[in-house]
Amino acid sequence: MNISGSVVFVTGASRGLGLAFAKVALALGASKVYAGMRNPAGFDVPGLIPVHIDVTDDVSVASAASKCADTTLLVNNAGIGEVHEGALDKGMIDLTRRMMETNCYGIVRASQAFAPILAANGGGAIVNVLSDVAWLSVPMLAAYAASKSAAWSVTNALRLGVKGSNTQVVGVHVGFIDTDLVRGFDVQKSDPLDVARTVYAGVEAGELEVLVDEKTRYIKSTLSLPDAVYFNPPASA
Ligand SMILES: NC(=O)c1ccc[n+]([C@@H]2O[C@H](COP(=O)([O-])OP(=O)(O)OC[C@H]3O[C@@H](n4cnc5c(N)ncnc54)[C@H](OP(=O)(O)O)[C@@H]3O)[C@@H](O)[C@H]2O)c1
Repeated sequence: MNISGSVVFVTGASRGLGLAFAKVALALGASKVYAGMRNPAGFDVPGLIPVHIDVTDDVSVASAASKCADTTLLVNNAGIGEVHEGALDKGMIDLTRRMMETNCYGIVRASQAFAPILAANGGGAIVNVLSDVAWLSVPMLAAYAASKSAAWSVTNALRLGVKGSNTQVVGVHVGFIDTDLVRGFDVQKSDPLDVARTVYAGVEAGELEVLVDEKTRYIKSTLSLPDAVYFNPPASA
């Protein structure tokens, strides 16, 4: 599908990658861009239409969908992350539940609310922002990575489930991006605007999965090997 002329709804568009998705959609000629966020008060970016949505809340998601019934492209971007000790950490289960609520069930909720709208508007597309940690977990990201692996699985099921409606479902795998989420990480990071441009180019090319950076492409390329990178990740992972 073309971004030009589309009506885009981005979740978690208050800042970070979500705001980049919203701004780049506008720059690429989207006819309307809904910037979905938990706290729209005071949000004032020319051309973007703030809409309240909390992806952990069914009522809020349903209300946003009914207000934005002309949407043709849903970007499931909202996400949370937290570092901790690892899978044996006593807080692992509670933390994973919290991550799942936003990072996985948030995608499910928004997709369930918007899929009939996209279908009625000709099919359109759903973009799910996942991560390279869906394939390469490390102890301090165990809970976050579990939620992204689950969201990857949901993305694959969703893609097949909406085939009959002509809706393109795009999974986005990406490494570190320069946003608040990884503010304290001293690593190489992608520019969120570049990430958004790469993803939209993939949507326009009809891709089903966008691997944004070299490291992510490398991780995926090793998955079927006997020494897949997740067995022994480099220290920089
Ligand atoms: N940064 C990275 O290195 C990186 C790498 C791979 C994937 N990702 C993924 O990229 C996506 C965007 O993250 P980011 O890096 O832009 O992080 P961020 O700067 O922390 O922004 C997160 C966004 O999600 C919103 N959000 C959180 N919980 C929400 C909820 N329940 N309902 C609606 N919105 C909610 C936040 O809204 P508030 O302003 O209200 O908090 C904010 O707009 C996430 O899915 C993240 O997992 C990020």
